[in-house]
Amino acid sequence: MQEARERLKSRLGFLMLAAGSAVGLGNVWRFPYIVGKNGGAAFVLVYLAFLAILGFPLLCVELGIGRGAKRSLAEALGTLAPARYAKFWRRFGTVLASGCFVLMIYYTDVAGWLLKYTGDFARGSMAEDPSAAFKALLADVPTCAAFTLAVVAAGTLVCLAGVVKGVERTTKWMMVSLLALLGALAVKALTLPGAAEGLSFYLKPDWGAFMEHPLSSTLDAMGQAFFTLSLGIGSMTICGSYVGEDRSLVSETAIIIVIDTFVAILSGLVIFPACATYSVAYTDGPGLIFAALPKVFSQMSGGAFWGFLFFLFLSFAALTTVIAVFECLIAGLMDLVGMGRTRASLIVGASVALLAMPCVAWDGVLDWEDFAVSKLWLPIGAIAQGLFVVDGRFGWGWAGFRDAVSAGRGWPMPDWMRLHLRFVVPVLVFVVLVAGLATVFA
Ligand code: ALA
Repeated sequence: MQEARERLKSRLGFLMLAAGSAVGLGNVWRFPYIVGKNGGAAFVLVYLAFLAILGFPLLCVELGIGRGAKRSLAEALGTLAPARYAKFWRRFGTVLASGCFVLMIYYTDVAGWLLKYTGDFARGSMAEDPSAAFKALLADVPTCAAFTLAVVAAGTLVCLAGVVKGVERTTKWMMVSLLALLGALAVKALTLPGAAEGLSFYLKPDWGAFMEHPLSSTLDAMGQAFFTLSLGIGSMTICGSYVGEDRSLVSETAIIIVIDTFVAILSGLVIFPACATYSVAYTDGPGLIFAALPKVFSQMSGGAFWGFLFFLFLSFAALTTVIAVFECLIAGLMDLVGMGRTRASLIVGASVALLAMPCVAWDGVLDWEDFAVSKLWLPIGAIAQGLFVVDGRFGWGWAGFRDAVSAGRGWPMPDWMRLHLRFVVPVLVFVVLVAGLATVFA
């Protein structure tokens, strides 16, 4: 028999769960290196525009679908669709939600590196040559596997404890600690001697650098907007499915996006001044965090302490996402086959652990998995859900969606958003996706 659906206990719990799902490696690992690669502030402006034009309405859509159906994405679309299309949407929702699984089989690997670095800095152990140490870590499959499994175990155990006692309680204290850690790190970084130089790169738009590769930079900005809000694959739908009707989800969406953007921008305010002060290149790609920043800490006085705080902050960011996405997978399994929480948690934990191993063992797997999720699954899933809520013949239809998302205190969903979701969002995403992919593969 299916267990009764739990409900989050507090508004803060909901906001921290949804913001925790959004705030993750995307903000603190991906965002700074993509900004570095694409010429700084010009890229940040394009990214903010994508958040407003695409991120905001599509996050309302995901939360609204969750609240309307009180189900995870795998079941929600089929529940809300007209009966004759329910089977199609159930299958399609399951395919979209499986994007969460693909996300987790590489995300847990990167989160594992973060745990390893946090432990190393806590013990005061700092590599003399951080780039060589990072390469050695990637080649050390047993160590990477052990840390990946630790992340998987943490996500599984928290979800096993239940929505309120496990997921809500843990993400709430982790997010509050994360914001406090980020505040302390920003104060330290902004008082470093190179702060002005780092900030000028970060905050002064350099359109010349952006225009060197305008299409792929634009695709990066759009992909980042989808990735940071975890749109399209149901990890926000699950948050909406546990929330009551006392607050409008339009207003709550604005708060979640502000928290997410605040963390991303502030992470840049920590990283760029630190790199400028110790002459470390910004454009180091994914290695920015793992190879370049440890160089910064090894030169800084009290570097082990600041390095520990920095990697603890990153680990919390990654773990809040892991917990929310695991919850989405577990609740999906519970909804789909009527299985209990304990069994579903163990099945999800064991499957992620197993299928995370190719990424741990082989170079290049991570890039392909990340490409599939951020460039395909997220945008396609998000557009499909946008069309689902505007089309009443084939999908849920506007009136049902508008009422579900607007219920409670706060902003109602304006009706012009229907046209925006029907025409502007899909066309924009399609054009950027096709043009960007064409340049990537050219
Ligand atoms: N939203 C998650 C992140 O930014 C996936 O890491």
